[in-house]
Amino acid sequence: MITLAVETSCDETALCLYDSKKGPIRDVLLSQAKVHSPFGGVVPELSAREHTRNLLPLLDLLLKDTSFDLKDIDFVSFTLTPGLILSLVVGVSFAKGVAFTLGKPLVPVHHLEGHIYSVFLEKTVEYPFVALIVSGGHTDLFLVEDFGRYRFLGGTLDDAAGESYDKVAKMLGLGYPGGPVIDKLAREGEPKYELPRPMIFSEDLNFSFSGLKTAVMNLIRKEKTFKVEDVASSFQEAVVDILVSKSLKALDKTGIKRLVVVGGVSANSRLREVLKEKSEELGFELYIPHPRLSTDNALMIAYAGTERFKREITAPMDINPEPNIPLEEFGKLWS
Ligand code: KG4
Ligand code: ZN
Repeated sequence: MITLAVETSCDETALCLYDSKKGPIRDVLLSQAKVHSPFGGVVPELSAREHTRNLLPLLDLLLKDTSFDLKDIDFVSFTLTPGLILSLVVGVSFAKGVAFTLGKPLVPVHHLEGHIYSVFLEKTVEYPFVALIVSGGHTDLFLVEDFGRYRFLGGTLDDAAGESYDKVAKMLGLGYPGGPVIDKLAREGEPKYELPRPMIFSEDLNFSFSGLKTAVMNLIRKEKTFKVEDVASSFQEAVVDILVSKSLKALDKTGIKRLVVVGGVSANSRLREVLKEKSEELGFELYIPHPRLSTDNALMIAYAGTERFKREITAPMDINPEPNIPLEEFGKLWS
């Protein structure tokens, strides 16, 4: 079974061809980071415009110098939700166009489901497991009971972890996206500033990052001269502390000893390091995909789409994208 997968939910235009038996055939990705960087964050209209401009050339690139004929795909997988609505509209319209022209079925995928299954591209994880999804738009903990069966355990009440990285980078004049640059600078600095870890002691599995972001802003204003590396390091330690502590709490509460960590922020070197230490110390299984699969890509959409197609889940041609269907609900749709 071969799928063409389409991902356009935010600022990455990504396509891939994926064979359920042999794995990835080819994948291509175009980041819009340069377009959004002067604004310190993703500008939705620019994102949609870039997807529109880039999808067809990317499809050409995907097929270039391969003997693969697009007619040989079995179905088209695409991100239906959540994401920037205009960007989703572009990707969904493209997916529909290809499916209609070739007479192939359409398979809708939830972007967060894609992230969860990014680890399966490398290794199969036994059910049930706890999934921490940390990206630019989400910071959520889910109990994954099976494919399509997701139980929400907790999530952020304000900013997502990635969003706080991006906002702090903007304050420090570091451009967009903030995660990779702060990650790098933090390794060259000392965590010498004390910053809050909001909600770290709360019994629930929710998160809050906006207070931390404000504390960084106040610190920058107060200190006037400081080493950016030290601010980055202090901020990163706080984020990692919060994410690790809530993940461990989720394992404790559910009694599960398998943790999957996905989404753009899971590319973070310090988060990976601390979680690895904890998994060895406390004896739980830890699964984090390769950093290339942590951030948005079409391979994860292909994998989740293939699992959906195996379960005979397809969408009608008049399906429309939604900015935010909760993952729990999505799992129950069409089943
Ligand atoms: O999953 P993703 O590619 O897109 C969304 O679905 O949002 O995540 C993007 C987010 C951005 O906020 C970016 O700053 C963050 O992931 N990110 C990182 C790192 N690499 C990307 N955050 C911390 N450390 C990193 N190394
Ligand atoms: Zn994402």
